[in-house]
Amino acid sequence: MNHLLKIEGLSQTAIEDILSASTKLKAERGRHQEQKLAGKTWAMIFAKSSTRTRVSFEIGIRELGGNAIFLNANDIQLGRGEPIKDTARVLGRMAHGAVIRTFAQNDVDEFAAFSGIPTINALTDDEHPCQILADLFTYRELRGSIQGKTVAFIGDGACNVSVSWIFAAAALDFRLRIAAPIEFQPSPELLNRAKGDVVCFVDLKEAAAGADLLYTDVWVSMGKEVEAAERLALLKKYQINADIIQVAHPKAPVMHCLPAYRGNEIDEPTFEAHADTIFRQAENRLHVQKAILEWSVS
Ligand code: CP
Ligand code: NVA
Repeated sequence: MNHLLKIEGLSQTAIEDILSASTKLKAERGRHQEQKLAGKTWAMIFAKSSTRTRVSFEIGIRELGGNAIFLNANDIQLGRGEPIKDTARVLGRMAHGAVIRTFAQNDVDEFAAFSGIPTINALTDDEHPCQILADLFTYRELRGSIQGKTVAFIGDGACNVSVSWIFAAAALDFRLRIAAPIEFQPSPELLNRAKGDVVCFVDLKEAAAGADLLYTDVWVSMGKEVEAAERLALLKKYQINADIIQVAHPKAPVMHCLPAYRGNEIDEPTFEAHADTIFRQAENRLHVQKAILEWSVS
Protein backbone atom coordinates (compact mmCIF):
# COMPACT_ATOMS: atom_id res chain seq x y z
CA MET A 1 0.00 0.00 0.00
CA ASN A 2 1.24 3.51 -0.83
CA HIS A 3 -0.12 6.95 0.04
CA LEU A 4 0.34 9.89 -2.33
CA LEU A 5 0.42 12.78 0.11
CA LYS A 6 2.89 15.17 -1.55
CA ILE A 7 5.56 15.36 -4.23
CA GLU A 8 7.90 16.24 -1.34
CA GLY A 9 9.45 12.97 -0.28
CA LEU A 10 8.21 11.02 -3.30
CA SER A 11 11.13 9.12 -4.77
CA GLN A 12 12.30 9.44 -8.34
CA THR A 13 11.59 5.72 -8.74
CA ALA A 14 7.99 6.13 -7.62
CA ILE A 15 7.52 9.03 -10.03
CA GLU A 16 9.07 7.05 -12.89
CA ASP A 17 6.91 4.02 -12.09
CA ILE A 18 3.74 6.14 -12.12
CA LEU A 19 4.70 7.88 -15.38
CA SER A 20 5.54 4.59 -17.12
CA ALA A 21 2.29 3.01 -15.98
CA SER A 22 0.43 6.10 -17.23
CA THR A 23 1.76 5.53 -20.74
CA LYS A 24 0.47 1.97 -20.70
CA LEU A 25 -2.89 2.86 -19.19
CA LYS A 26 -3.40 5.65 -21.72
CA ALA A 27 -2.56 3.36 -24.64
CA GLU A 28 -4.78 0.57 -23.32
CA ARG A 29 -7.78 2.63 -22.24
CA GLY A 30 -10.98 0.62 -22.68
CA ARG A 31 -9.18 -2.74 -22.84
CA HIS A 32 -7.32 -3.12 -19.55
CA GLN A 33 -6.27 -6.74 -18.99
CA GLU A 34 -6.49 -6.48 -15.23
CA GLN A 35 -8.88 -4.39 -13.15
CA LYS A 36 -6.84 -3.62 -10.10
CA LEU A 37 -9.68 -1.99 -8.13
CA ALA A 38 -12.23 -4.72 -8.86
CA GLY A 39 -14.74 -5.02 -6.04
CA LYS A 40 -13.26 -2.04 -4.16
CA THR A 41 -15.01 1.15 -3.11
CA TRP A 42 -13.10 4.40 -2.83
CA ALA A 43 -14.27 7.41 -0.84
CA MET A 44 -13.74 10.84 -2.38
CA ILE A 45 -13.89 13.54 0.28
CA PHE A 46 -13.89 17.05 -1.18
CA ALA A 47 -13.93 20.26 0.85
CA LYS A 48 -13.16 22.45 -2.18
CA SER A 49 -14.64 22.73 -5.69
CA SER A 50 -13.34 20.55 -8.49
CA THR A 51 -14.10 19.65 -12.09
CA ARG A 52 -11.02 17.84 -13.43
CA THR A 53 -9.85 16.07 -10.30
CA ARG A 54 -13.28 14.88 -9.28
CA VAL A 55 -14.36 13.67 -12.71
CA SER A 56 -11.03 12.05 -13.58
CA PHE A 57 -10.91 10.16 -10.27
CA GLU A 58 -14.53 9.02 -10.49
CA ILE A 59 -14.08 7.79 -14.05
CA GLY A 60 -10.63 6.38 -13.36
CA ILE A 61 -11.79 4.35 -10.35
CA ARG A 62 -14.66 2.91 -12.41
CA GLU A 63 -12.39 2.08 -15.34
CA LEU A 64 -10.19 0.10 -12.95
CA GLY A 65 -13.21 -1.92 -11.82
CA GLY A 66 -13.94 -0.05 -8.59
CA ASN A 67 -16.74 2.14 -7.27
CA ALA A 68 -16.38 5.74 -6.14
CA ILE A 69 -18.56 7.48 -3.59
CA PHE A 70 -18.35 11.26 -3.58
CA LEU A 71 -18.57 12.89 -0.16
CA ASN A 72 -18.84 16.64 0.00
CA ALA A 73 -17.00 17.42 3.24
CA ASN A 74 -19.84 19.70 4.31
CA ASP A 75 -22.44 16.96 3.90
CA ILE A 76 -20.72 14.50 6.20
CA GLN A 77 -20.17 14.97 9.94
CA LEU A 78 -16.64 16.19 9.24
CA GLY A 79 -18.24 19.47 8.21
CA ARG A 80 -19.88 19.72 11.64
CA GLY A 81 -16.64 19.18 13.47
CA GLU A 82 -16.16 15.41 13.70
CA PRO A 83 -12.39 14.99 13.96
CA ILE A 84 -10.51 13.85 10.87
CA LYS A 85 -8.98 10.96 12.81
CA ASP A 86 -12.44 9.63 13.70
CA THR A 87 -13.68 10.06 10.12
CA ALA A 88 -10.56 8.21 8.98
CA ARG A 89 -11.14 5.31 11.36
CA VAL A 90 -14.75 4.94 10.20
CA LEU A 91 -14.04 5.16 6.49
CA GLY A 92 -10.98 2.95 6.88
CA ARG A 93 -13.28 0.15 8.05
CA MET A 94 -15.64 0.53 5.10
CA ALA A 95 -13.84 1.95 2.07
CA HIS A 96 -10.73 0.54 0.41
CA GLY A 97 -9.08 3.84 -0.42
CA ALA A 98 -9.58 7.60 -0.16
CA VAL A 99 -9.04 10.64 -2.34
CA ILE A 100 -9.10 13.89 -0.37
CA ARG A 101 -9.22 17.54 -1.44
CA THR A 102 -9.06 19.95 1.46
CA PHE A 103 -7.30 22.92 3.04
CA ALA A 104 -4.77 21.69 5.61
CA GLN A 105 -2.12 19.21 4.48
CA ASN A 106 -2.14 17.87 8.01
CA ASP A 107 -5.73 16.63 7.54
CA VAL A 108 -4.70 14.42 4.62
CA ASP A 109 -1.61 13.20 6.48
CA GLU A 110 -3.70 12.43 9.55
CA PHE A 111 -6.35 10.65 7.50
CA ALA A 112 -3.64 8.44 5.99
CA ALA A 113 -2.18 7.71 9.42
CA PHE A 114 -5.50 6.78 11.04
CA SER A 115 -7.47 5.14 8.22
CA GLY A 116 -5.12 2.32 7.24
CA ILE A 117 -6.24 2.64 3.60
CA PRO A 118 -4.37 4.14 0.64
CA THR A 119 -4.87 7.90 0.72
CA ILE A 120 -4.36 10.30 -2.18
CA ASN A 121 -3.99 14.06 -1.88
CA ALA A 122 -6.31 15.59 -4.49
CA LEU A 123 -5.08 19.14 -3.55
CA THR A 124 -4.35 20.86 -0.29
CA ASP A 125 -3.14 24.36 0.47
CA ASP A 126 0.40 22.95 0.41
CA GLU A 127 0.57 20.73 -2.67
CA HIS A 128 -1.24 19.35 -5.72
CA PRO A 129 0.74 16.18 -6.44
CA CYS A 130 -1.72 14.58 -8.91
CA GLN A 131 -1.61 17.71 -11.06
CA ILE A 132 2.16 17.84 -11.26
CA LEU A 133 2.45 14.14 -12.10
CA ALA A 134 0.02 14.71 -14.99
CA ASP A 135 2.02 17.76 -16.08
CA LEU A 136 5.29 15.82 -16.01
CA PHE A 137 3.64 13.08 -18.05
CA THR A 138 2.33 15.64 -20.55
CA TYR A 139 5.76 17.24 -20.95
CA ARG A 140 7.29 13.82 -21.53
CA GLU A 141 4.70 13.00 -24.21
CA LEU A 142 5.34 16.27 -26.01
CA ARG A 143 9.07 16.79 -25.61
CA GLY A 144 10.67 13.72 -23.97
CA SER A 145 12.67 13.71 -20.75
CA ILE A 146 12.43 16.82 -18.58
CA GLN A 147 15.83 16.13 -16.98
CA GLY A 148 18.17 19.08 -17.50
CA LYS A 149 15.39 21.25 -18.95
CA THR A 150 14.24 24.63 -17.62
CA VAL A 151 10.68 25.16 -16.44
CA ALA A 152 9.43 28.70 -15.82
CA PHE A 153 6.53 29.10 -13.40
CA ILE A 154 4.90 32.52 -13.68
CA GLY A 155 2.49 33.86 -11.05
CA ASP A 156 1.77 32.81 -7.47
CA GLY A 157 5.09 31.13 -6.79
CA ALA A 158 4.07 30.10 -3.28
CA CYS A 159 0.85 28.27 -4.23
CA ASN A 160 0.26 24.54 -3.97
CA VAL A 161 0.96 23.89 -7.66
CA SER A 162 4.21 25.83 -7.59
CA VAL A 163 5.34 24.01 -4.44
CA SER A 164 4.73 20.62 -6.06
CA TRP A 165 6.82 21.81 -9.04
CA ILE A 166 9.60 22.82 -6.63
CA PHE A 167 9.83 19.33 -5.17
CA ALA A 168 9.50 17.72 -8.62
CA ALA A 169 12.52 19.74 -9.83
CA ALA A 170 14.67 18.17 -7.15
CA ALA A 171 13.35 14.64 -7.76
CA LEU A 172 13.68 14.71 -11.56
CA ASP A 173 16.70 16.97 -11.85
CA PHE A 174 15.40 19.90 -13.91
CA ARG A 175 15.76 23.64 -13.39
CA LEU A 176 12.81 25.64 -12.10
CA ARG A 177 12.66 29.41 -12.48
CA ILE A 178 9.85 31.16 -10.62
CA ALA A 179 8.64 34.64 -11.56
CA ALA A 180 6.64 36.18 -8.73
CA PRO A 181 6.47 39.31 -6.63
CA ILE A 182 8.40 38.94 -3.36
CA GLU A 183 5.11 38.49 -1.46
CA PHE A 184 4.29 35.39 -3.52
CA GLN A 185 7.65 33.69 -3.65
CA PRO A 186 8.23 30.42 -1.79
CA SER A 187 10.00 30.77 1.55
CA PRO A 188 13.79 30.26 1.73
CA GLU A 189 13.08 27.50 4.28
CA LEU A 190 10.98 25.59 1.75
CA LEU A 191 13.58 26.04 -0.99
CA ASN A 192 16.30 24.78 1.34
CA ARG A 193 14.21 21.76 2.18
CA ALA A 194 13.59 20.99 -1.50
CA LYS A 195 17.28 21.21 -2.45
CA GLY A 196 16.49 21.52 -6.16
CA ASP A 197 17.85 23.93 -8.77
CA VAL A 198 15.16 26.52 -8.12
CA VAL A 199 15.64 30.27 -8.50
CA CYS A 200 13.06 32.99 -7.87
CA PHE A 201 12.89 36.22 -9.86
CA VAL A 202 10.82 39.35 -9.58
CA ASP A 203 11.44 40.01 -13.27
CA LEU A 204 9.29 37.80 -15.52
CA LYS A 205 11.54 37.91 -18.53
CA GLU A 206 14.59 36.87 -16.55
CA ALA A 207 12.69 33.84 -15.29
CA ALA A 208 11.28 32.91 -18.70
CA ALA A 209 14.47 33.47 -20.74
CA GLY A 210 15.20 30.31 -22.75
CA ALA A 211 12.64 28.27 -20.77
CA ASP A 212 11.65 24.88 -22.19
CA LEU A 213 8.21 25.05 -20.57
CA LEU A 214 6.08 27.99 -19.47
CA TYR A 215 3.59 27.25 -16.71
CA THR A 216 1.01 29.23 -14.80
CA ASP A 217 -1.81 28.79 -12.31
CA VAL A 218 -4.58 31.02 -10.98
CA TRP A 219 -3.62 34.09 -8.97
CA VAL A 220 -6.29 33.45 -6.35
CA SER A 221 -6.25 29.86 -5.14
CA MET A 222 -9.22 28.30 -3.42
CA GLY A 223 -9.34 29.49 0.17
CA LYS A 224 -7.48 32.73 -0.62
CA GLU A 225 -10.54 34.67 -1.79
CA VAL A 226 -10.26 37.26 1.00
CA GLU A 227 -6.88 38.24 -0.45
CA ALA A 228 -8.24 38.56 -4.00
CA ALA A 229 -7.87 42.34 -4.37
CA GLU A 230 -4.30 42.36 -3.02
CA ARG A 231 -3.33 39.40 -5.18
CA LEU A 232 -4.76 40.86 -8.38
CA ALA A 233 -2.88 44.09 -7.74
CA LEU A 234 0.48 42.52 -6.88
CA LEU A 235 0.38 39.82 -9.55
CA LYS A 236 -0.94 42.10 -12.30
CA LYS A 237 2.06 41.88 -14.59
CA TYR A 238 2.78 38.19 -14.01
CA GLN A 239 0.90 37.07 -17.08
CA ILE A 240 1.89 34.61 -19.81
CA ASN A 241 1.42 36.48 -23.07
CA ALA A 242 3.23 37.14 -26.36
CA ASP A 243 5.97 39.17 -24.65
CA ILE A 244 6.90 36.23 -22.45
CA ILE A 245 6.56 33.61 -25.19
CA GLN A 246 9.07 35.63 -27.17
CA VAL A 247 11.88 35.18 -24.64
CA ALA A 248 11.27 31.46 -23.99
CA HIS A 249 12.58 28.62 -26.16
CA PRO A 250 10.70 28.81 -29.49
CA LYS A 251 9.24 25.32 -28.97
CA ALA A 252 8.33 25.77 -25.29
CA PRO A 253 4.85 24.42 -24.54
CA VAL A 254 2.57 26.60 -22.43
CA MET A 255 0.73 24.79 -19.66
CA HIS A 256 -2.01 25.75 -17.25
CA CYS A 257 -3.49 23.43 -14.63
CA LEU A 258 -6.93 25.06 -15.07
CA PRO A 259 -9.37 26.62 -14.36
CA ALA A 260 -7.99 29.61 -16.30
CA TYR A 261 -8.80 33.25 -15.76
CA ARG A 262 -8.10 34.83 -19.10
CA GLY A 263 -6.74 38.34 -18.82
CA ASN A 264 -5.13 37.51 -15.47
CA GLU A 265 -2.45 34.80 -15.41
CA ILE A 266 -2.69 34.23 -19.19
CA ASP A 267 -4.19 36.24 -22.01
CA GLU A 268 -6.86 34.91 -24.34
CA PRO A 269 -4.78 34.62 -27.55
CA THR A 270 -1.99 32.76 -25.74
CA PHE A 271 -4.44 30.45 -24.01
CA GLU A 272 -6.19 29.55 -27.25
CA ALA A 273 -2.92 29.16 -29.16
CA HIS A 274 -1.83 26.57 -26.58
CA ALA A 275 -5.23 25.00 -25.92
CA ASP A 276 -4.17 21.62 -27.36
CA THR A 277 -1.44 21.31 -24.76
CA ILE A 278 -3.59 22.65 -21.93
CA PHE A 279 -6.47 20.27 -22.59
CA ARG A 280 -4.07 17.38 -23.16
CA GLN A 281 -2.84 18.14 -19.62
CA ALA A 282 -6.44 18.00 -18.39
CA GLU A 283 -7.08 14.67 -20.16
CA ASN A 284 -3.87 13.24 -18.77
CA ARG A 285 -5.20 13.71 -15.24
CA LEU A 286 -7.34 10.63 -15.95
CA HIS A 287 -4.54 8.40 -17.23
CA VAL A 288 -2.01 9.45 -14.59
CA GLN A 289 -4.47 9.14 -11.72
CA LYS A 290 -5.32 5.61 -12.83
CA ALA A 291 -1.59 4.90 -12.54
CA ILE A 292 -1.54 6.56 -9.10
CA LEU A 293 -4.50 4.42 -7.99
CA GLU A 294 -2.80 1.22 -9.15
CA TRP A 295 0.46 2.27 -7.47
CA SER A 296 -1.40 3.04 -4.25
CA VAL A 297 -2.77 -0.50 -4.00
CA SER A 298 0.49 -2.19 -5.02
N1 CP B 1 -6.55 21.43 -12.08
C1 CP B 1 -7.47 20.97 -11.21
O1 CP B 1 -7.17 20.34 -10.20
O2 CP B 1 -8.75 21.24 -11.57
P1 CP B 1 -10.04 21.06 -10.65
O3 CP B 1 -9.94 22.07 -9.54
O4 CP B 1 -11.19 21.31 -11.58
O5 CP B 1 -10.07 19.66 -10.10
N1 NVA C 1 -3.76 26.75 -6.99
C1 NVA C 1 -5.12 26.44 -7.39
C2 NVA C 1 -5.16 25.17 -8.16
C3 NVA C 1 -6.51 24.81 -8.71
C4 NVA C 1 -6.54 23.50 -9.38
C5 NVA C 1 -6.01 26.37 -6.16
O1 NVA C 1 -5.57 25.84 -5.13
O2 NVA C 1 -7.14 26.84 -6.24
